Amino acid sequence: MAMSLGAVFIFVASIYGGEGGLRFASYYGDHMVLQKAPESAVLWGYGPEGAHVTLTLSGPSQRRTSLADVTNGIWRVTLDPVAAGGPYNVTAAAQDSTAALTDVLFGDVWLCGGQSNMWLQTSKIFNASDELRIAEKYPHVRIFMAGFNQSKTEEIDLIQVELPWSVPPTNVADFSAVCWLFGRYLQETLQYPIGLVESCWEGTRVEVWSSPRALQQCDRQRVGSGPKENSVLWNAMIHPLLNMTVKGAIWYQGEANTVYHQEKYSCSFPAMIDDWRLAFHHGSGGQTSLHFPFGFVQLSTDQKGSKSDGFPNIRWHQTADYGFVPNSRMQNTFMAVALDLPDETSPYGTIHPRDKQDVAYRLTLGARAVAYGEVGVSFQGPFPTQITLLSKMINVTYDQKVRVTPSKDVFEICCTEGHAPCGPESAWVSSPIMQQGPTTVLLTSDVCPPAEEVSGLRYAWRDWPCDFKACPVYSASGVLPAPPFIAKRSQSVGKQEV
Ligand SMILES: *[C@@H]1O[C@H](CO)[C@@H](O)[C@H](O)[C@H]1NC(C)=O
Ligand SMILES: *[C@@H]1O[C@H](CO)[C@@H](O)[C@H](O)[C@H]1NC(C)=O
Ligand SMILES: *[C@@H]1O[C@H](CO)[C@@H](O)[C@H](O)[C@H]1NC(C)=O
Ligand SMILES: *[C@@H]1O[C@H](CO)[C@@H](O)[C@H](O)[C@H]1NC(C)=O
Ligand SMILES: *[C@@H]1O[C@H](CO)[C@@H](O)[C@H](O)[C@H]1NC(C)=O
Repeated sequence: MAMSLGAVFIFVASIYGGEGGLRFASYYGDHMVLQKAPESAVLWGYGPEGAHVTLTLSGPSQRRTSLADVTNGIWRVTLDPVAAGGPYNVTAAAQDSTAALTDVLFGDVWLCGGQSNMWLQTSKIFNASDELRIAEKYPHVRIFMAGFNQSKTEEIDLIQVELPWSVPPTNVADFSAVCWLFGRYLQETLQYPIGLVESCWEGTRVEVWSSPRALQQCDRQRVGSGPKENSVLWNAMIHPLLNMTVKGAIWYQGEANTVYHQEKYSCSFPAMIDDWRLAFHHGSGGQTSLHFPFGFVQLSTDQKGSKSDGFPNIRWHQTADYGFVPNSRMQNTFMAVALDLPDETSPYGTIHPRDKQDVAYRLTLGARAVAYGEVGVSFQGPFPTQITLLSKMINVTYDQKVRVTPSKDVFEICCTEGHAPCGPESAWVSSPIMQQGPTTVLLTSDVCPPAEEVSGLRYAWRDWPCDFKACPVYSASGVLPAPPFIAKRSQSVGKQEV
């Protein structure tokens, strides 16, 4: 009897020690932020089969213990909700093996995804040295970045971590500027910890971040190769994160789709959002909201003078062709309009404008209104509620007071003969602003050839429609640019819902 107990003891010791012992999944680390109450944070990791894991949370106000068993090499714990604050230590223990996370805060966790404009590092933006210098004032905004990895199958954990959870200013220079500034501005408002998880890759299309389920919604099943293959970054860089509870996500992507199935984007982008919501909700055992807030940046600019319609089309499709969000197809979303922030001399290429402060600030306004329900925060630029054809004028009425700068060519009208609808071959001509009222802009329709009449109107429908912060229509405060729109006769344009 004694001998067999001894044998068991040795067996246990050998598998519970060292490499075979307990550990947390790759994206749980010292200095991290876990999702605060009312949601519950989910933690998981690896351990020897059958081991009983005790997870202890010790910190300023609480000491809590949870239990889990290791099944198929994995243990998983859903904590009771913890109020914002910290620091806490989280210790997982099983017999003689322990793993610990120190300096853990509870706050809101935001995922930041997309392509190169999300990836663009804080060290590269305007006023980078100022931004990096003040980063140390925000020790409660914690940052983490997933490795750039792809996979043909859905991974349960990240293949690699690019930047471990860090306390600013550590690693801020190499971290996404949009993500960092969004988190820092949010923290200034909310006054509690913010965790930022960056998972993005330059030059990538929406299809690589979409699960096969989402692609199927839009008949998007063609398979390419390499990091451009459908679903490979979903598999390696998003799927592993599903089990972590998050508050919401922000996204800056679409440039790569201006030349790749742009016509599908009004389906594929909302389908990806729906699918992420469902998957994060399931992955977290119902903790991450099924309707979590999703913010995104409407494309900025690339080529001055370009006549290509790729950017205008993707901007429109980013809103599921409504022109504004949230709308009935894209609920609980918010958008930062960025087409008025071009950067002609960006050393990283004009497609990478360096003013990320305004982008992030506009996103933060959306988050405050949509994600946090703050009353009285304006976050949408002016959008038309009514377009009326007068005898020689067009009366565009907006949903709010406008600040208008006269412009000759940012509004354009479609001229067609004999009540013909505006089609792909129809001519668009510039329609100068003639007058303005508090909520209206009056355009001339006198520019169509004599035999033709107005069959469409569009605004800022160009890759690069205006100079820096110099579009014709802004909110009365001057902070929020009007998003682009296109309206054709016998189609309605307007804000039925907000
Ligand atoms: C957390 O762990 C660190 C290092 O082991 C220790 O110094 C600290 O006192 C612990 N904090 C709490 C709240 O238990
Ligand atoms: C994972 O990504 C990192 C860069 O973040 C890279 O160095 C590494 O080689 C990648 N690993 C695999 C298996 O692709
Ligand atoms: C994470 O979530 C996915 C998707 O719901 C699930 O298949 C997987 O088993 C979960 N992993 C862990 C470790 O809980
Ligand atoms: C950079 O700093 C200057 C001086 O404070 C300021 O006027 C400018 O708006 C800043 N630029 C951005 C993009 O924040
Ligand atoms: C334009 O339309 C608005 C809203 O219907 C109306 O109040 C305004 O008087 C119109 N302006 C002109 C010049 O017709």
